[in-house]
Amino acid sequence: MLVAGATGRTGAEIVHRLSHYGIDFRLFVRSTKKAITLFGADAAGILRVGSIQDEAETRDALHGIDAVICAVGSNPADPDSPPPSAIDRDGIQQLGVLAKESGAKHFILISSLGATKEDHPLNKYGKVLSMKLEGENTIRTLFSSPEYSHTILRPGGLLDTPPFRHSLVFSTGDTITGSVSRGDAAETAVLSLTQNEARNTTFELVQGDEEAQPSLSKFFSQIRQKKQI
Ligand SMILES: NC(=O)c1ccc[n+]([C@@H]2O[C@H](COP(=O)([O-])OP(=O)(O)OC[C@H]3O[C@@H](n4cnc5c(N)ncnc54)[C@H](OP(=O)(O)O)[C@@H]3O)[C@@H](O)[C@H]2O)c1
Repeated sequence: MLVAGATGRTGAEIVHRLSHYGIDFRLFVRSTKKAITLFGADAAGILRVGSIQDEAETRDALHGIDAVICAVGSNPADPDSPPPSAIDRDGIQQLGVLAKESGAKHFILISSLGATKEDHPLNKYGKVLSMKLEGENTIRTLFSSPEYSHTILRPGGLLDTPPFRHSLVFSTGDTITGSVSRGDAAETAVLSLTQNEARNTTFELVQGDEEAQPSLSKFFSQIRQKKQI
């Protein structure tokens, strides 16, 4: 398992949940220092340092990997950062292509609610949502053939609030709005590795009522119900 964007706010939560479940992983990060600060000196051995914009670095990170969880995202508010076209579209597309070439079979992508809404206000910032949709499309195409699988998660506005405190609403068709904790989005991404309903599926994710949750796995049945409608 490779976590791309592991030092991001959702990426770090993904790393914690993979550790919780005892799943083996490697981290693709841009900064060793940031990774060690977040995950401790022991993480040094599982780091691959580079950018998804760099083909050689990405190939190196993917060597021997069977699955990818990607929580990489551009920073459209920062004019000094590469634009969404370079990260959320070209970078994700390159990561997908190289992952498949390297032998990965499964790809879990954190995208965004509203990815299909061209007139969404967020698209004023480098067409970030449309770029994410193009990234999604490539992952769906590459990881749909037999023996391969993909899950595209489209969370609502991401919150730095504690996970397991709300019910979750999973939906399809990009019709809902809302927000969700990064921890819940991360847990959902990790559960998507093994939940049948998440296999070869794109779904939106927001939080519902405040209500402690021992597990988030029960919410996946909503995807099956939506698909049946
Ligand atoms: N913010 C929201 O409300 C919201 C809502 C829905 C969906 N999303 C999407 O959900 C995902 C996670 O969001 P977040 O807020 O947790 O993200 P975040 O904290 O901004 O983290 C983004 C990650 O992407 C990495 N990254 C950026 N450019 C890269 C590159 N060229 N190569 C490798 N890694 C690169 C960053 O690396 P560094 O750690 O080195 O900076 C960071 O780890 C993103 O795709 C975001 O667009 C966000």
